[in-house]
Amino acid sequence: MSGDERARGGGARGPAPAPAPLPFGTARDALAWAVAALRDGVSESPRLDAEVLLRHLLDWDRAQLFARLNDPLPEAAASGYRPLIARRVAGEPVAYLVGEREFMGLSFVVGPGVLVPRPETEDLVEWLVARIRAESRWHGGPRIVDVGTGSGAIALSLASLLPAARVVGVDLSPLALRYARENRARLNLDRRVGLVRGDLLAPIGAADVIAANLPYLRPDQLHTGIADEPAEALFAGQDGLDLYRALLPQAARLLHSPGILVAEIDPSQTVAMRDLCRAAFPTSTVQVQRDLAGFDRFVSVVH
Ligand SMILES: C[S@@+](CC[C@H](N)C(=O)[O-])C[C@H]1O[C@@H](n2cnc3c(N)ncnc32)[C@H](O)[C@@H]1O
Repeated sequence: MSGDERARGGGARGPAPAPAPLPFGTARDALAWAVAALRDGVSESPRLDAEVLLRHLLDWDRAQLFARLNDPLPEAAASGYRPLIARRVAGEPVAYLVGEREFMGLSFVVGPGVLVPRPETEDLVEWLVARIRAESRWHGGPRIVDVGTGSGAIALSLASLLPAARVVGVDLSPLALRYARENRARLNLDRRVGLVRGDLLAPIGAADVIAANLPYLRPDQLHTGIADEPAEALFAGQDGLDLYRALLPQAARLLHSPGILVAEIDPSQTVAMRDLCRAAFPTSTVQVQRDLAGFDRFVSVVH
């Protein structure tokens, strides 16, 4: 029997074959299969990934999933789950597969071509919001620049938390800026946040606050967990500091006093980055701030 004949079924020549069994009976079966597929180095959080991807297909929240773990799985979800897990096994980030990531309680659209916002960066935003709220001299709100804005995660969450601030996000990547514009529209921040294409601070005249989460990895820090994200959002020369080396002298020319600069780093860069900041801002207070996990995560310059 040819493949075509098999696809058409038995017709008049005999009883129709039984429909192929669904790949999974219940949500519990599907999760158990996916966790096994994602274990062994594919994912650092196999259970969470399996659950988020299944809930995405089902459009269920966690409570619904747990209430219906033993019910028969709807057919569309049962057949869609296997290819989705295969893409995760091949290294695609969960956020790309579901098309969004939560950051500072807001939903950001993400996908190939833009960095997935990380929880460590939320610590930078929280620290900055507290400092800005404590500064009384910025009548009418500070002018904030988010350099290397990517999806707009920092710029848009600052604008939403600081209603008086004027915010501009800059990025070199037209694709990243497309995601940032979509996120700006979804968050209703079109009137409050500017998004411009440019190299570091070249498009900017002056600022009270500069937030930077620029690429800072070294080439040897590439691993499978980040291989699908754009290299131009991750790497910055042999020691990972090329972009900050270029940024800091520009920032020193543009930053008002009072002014604040924050820049996310890798914990291994603490000393080198502190030295770069002190060289660019010799009379300012330079400090290293830790993330919630206790790692040195960003440098602050209070100017
Ligand atoms: C680590 S990602 C950060 C994205 C976002 N700020 C976040 O925290 O999720 C760095 C971003 O910097 C951008 N970038 C790289 N080089 C740049 C440059 N010379 N000028 C402006 N942006 C740059 C990349 O395109 C990328 O979107």
